[in-house]
Amino acid sequence: MIVVLLGPPGAGKGTQGERIAERLAVPKIATGDVLRSAIREGTEQGLAAKSYMDRGDLVPDSVILGIMKEVLAAPSASKGAVLDGVVRTVPQAEGLWMMLAELGRKVDRFLLFDVDEDELVQRLSGRTVCDSCQTPYKGVEPGTKCPKCGGTLVRRKDDEPESIRNRLEVYRAQTQPVIEWCKEKKMALVEIKATGDLDEITDLAMKALLEP
Ligand code: AP5
Repeated sequence: MIVVLLGPPGAGKGTQGERIAERLAVPKIATGDVLRSAIREGTEQGLAAKSYMDRGDLVPDSVILGIMKEVLAAPSASKGAVLDGVVRTVPQAEGLWMMLAELGRKVDRFLLFDVDEDELVQRLSGRTVCDSCQTPYKGVEPGTKCPKCGGTLVRRKDDEPESIRNRLEVYRAQTQPVIEWCKEKKMALVEIKATGDLDEITDLAMKALLEP
């Protein structure tokens, strides 16, 4: 099953993506994580992406589609994948659709996480992430060791107030049109209220995915 997670920054795509991928026994592929690893490793791709990401702007579509081509062709994605943050512009949605069609595959569900803007800002301002496995945490101080892998928790540069504001603007201007695109193309799009208990949100997501 191929699932695309949509939603504004801080909606819980990373948090829920991990849980959904585990339940479906498929990998979670997050373009944000792939790009942050490239930055840490100092690759050409990472260096090119860094300034866009720090400002909270989108990395060019060609870079994202290149990453997607590679990851979808990998044997680990043969049974499906949970795609976190991948389709952020209409050209990306069209590119992914064509790429999958060439492989005889399709997106089975688009899940849209809905969270009020005030809560998004609050979540992002209080978030730390592991510098190694990228797991996000809430209310845990930077410098703490990651309980999952022993990495160090850090604040993301794009979680500074100015970047958060820009990311929300960019979401409205460039990613919300993808929702209209899904509707026009009659894609299987399900909206989920993504506030409150994490287990309840995961259950709602799984129900939406497994319903015919
Ligand atoms: P990316 O890393 O994808 O960031 P994002 O989309 O802005 O999303 P976030 O990671 O900030 O939030 P999330 O929805 O995953 O929420 P999380 O689970 O962490 O992208 C970063 C950058 O990379 C982009 O700005 C862009 O530059 C570039 N990029 C990536 N993909 C791209 C693409 N396709 N095209 C172009 N550029 C691209 O949760 C947030 C916090 O809330 C956490 O602390 C968490 O613990 C907490 N939380 C989660 N759920 C709940 C809940 N139910 N209640 C309370 N707190 C909760």
